[in-house]
Amino acid sequence: MKQTHIFPTVSGPLALAASYANGYRETKTNLHPTASLAELRNAFGGPLPAKAQPGEDVIAELIHAAEPGLVGNTQPGFHAWVMGASHPTGVAADWLTSIWGQNAGIYQGSPAAATAEEVACDWVLDVLDLPRTASVGITTGATMAGFIGLAAARDEVLRRKGYDLASDGLQGAPGITIFASDDTHVSNLAALRYLGFGNRNISRVPSDDQGRMILVDLAERMALVDGPKIVIATAGHINSGAFDDFHALADLAAQHDAWLHVDAAFGLWARTSVSTKYLTSGIDRADSWSTDGHKWLQIPFDAGFAIVRDRQAHRRAMDISASYLPLAPEDGRHATHYNPELSRRARGFAVWATLKALGRDGISDMVRNHCDCASLLAHKLQTTPGVRVLNDVVLNQVVLSFDRGQGDSDQMVQAMEQALNADGQHFFRTAEWRGQRVLRVSIIGFETGPDHIQALARKIKTLWADIGA
Ligand SMILES: Cc1ncc(COP(=O)(O)O)c(C=O)c1O
Repeated sequence: MKQTHIFPTVSGPLALAASYANGYRETKTNLHPTASLAELRNAFGGPLPAKAQPGEDVIAELIHAAEPGLVGNTQPGFHAWVMGASHPTGVAADWLTSIWGQNAGIYQGSPAAATAEEVACDWVLDVLDLPRTASVGITTGATMAGFIGLAAARDEVLRRKGYDLASDGLQGAPGITIFASDDTHVSNLAALRYLGFGNRNISRVPSDDQGRMILVDLAERMALVDGPKIVIATAGHINSGAFDDFHALADLAAQHDAWLHVDAAFGLWARTSVSTKYLTSGIDRADSWSTDGHKWLQIPFDAGFAIVRDRQAHRRAMDISASYLPLAPEDGRHATHYNPELSRRARGFAVWATLKALGRDGISDMVRNHCDCASLLAHKLQTTPGVRVLNDVVLNQVVLSFDRGQGDSDQMVQAMEQALNADGQHFFRTAEWRGQRVLRVSIIGFETGPDHIQALARKIKTLWADIGA
């Protein structure tokens, strides 16, 4: 095929952004913002200019204003939350996505975006070893992916009772009961609220010390309820990394003709490594799955995947059409069929590029490395007096407490958080876990490896020797 690419010499705002971006990660040595809110408001503030400004000046000003307020979540010392580190190849694809400025809602809006997305979605199913006939929507994240999975669930469990939600609406529909554990991620509760469900429609099932749903409780609750049911399971608890028992949940769901949705924001990627795939055993029996691209897969923000076994249920839930929109089935993929979006960013380019850059083995090695790192950290700390690993470390999450036996463990955890963050090399945050303050260690950035973890274990021990004394 004749090459028609033209690479003009770039200048102006694009050149400035590109040359700055090239060095940014090497020079970002403090993972914490250094500016206060007032300083940031001041830096970004002022009246909207009446006249157009030169693009290069605007970008220089943007860099100057933003830099002191940036968080180093692309760096290996970032452990505060489960956030990926934006793989450089994905970032480059993301730049192109903006340059190309495609609207990826329908095939004719961007045949290239539609096709990259179609292929990337097939790769996602393949690498995750989920039913290859399932449909996939590329979303802004796991919250929206959960929303989509649960929207499909809502419509389908009603349809099975002979109720057509699209024509008759939620008011007057048979009552649906949702079963979700006490530990379900807040994003599921938010998604349920957007879908018209309140707390009284959700049966909160007790969970065990790791955050796994207690099955006998679920079974009892399901047996007591008539009518349509949806069960929300978890793969990768936000604190402990724990997994529900998917075979048991799938059996219960089948028994009750319930829809089983799995919130697998990061845990689903355990499937890509032979050392952790067992954790997800039976997960492929679910009806829908929500997961993130911007967490373990390192796709630049934002990217998530809504995966639904029954393509038609997915399509029905997201249905949209108008005479001005060419949505011919013989065209390629129309992303709008799988998302609550019409105009949308062509997220598929960054997904395609990141998957290709990492490759199947790269993804699996990365997942195994992070899980090994978590085990290594737990191992290094297990004999340190006063430091306790509170979770069974099965994935990439380590939950720590610091207790010197004087009843002030919560304060000690906060003191350790402060001390660990003080030199700007690490970024940690605490959470409430089983009635106590804990330090959460998420090992998720693609550059984080055993050397970082050895150094982190030494730092924790040194600081604790001082603080816990
Ligand atoms: C288990 C779980 N579900 C859902 C979410 C929400 O994901 P997102 O922030 O991508 O919307 C998270 C985020 O940390 C999560 O850990």
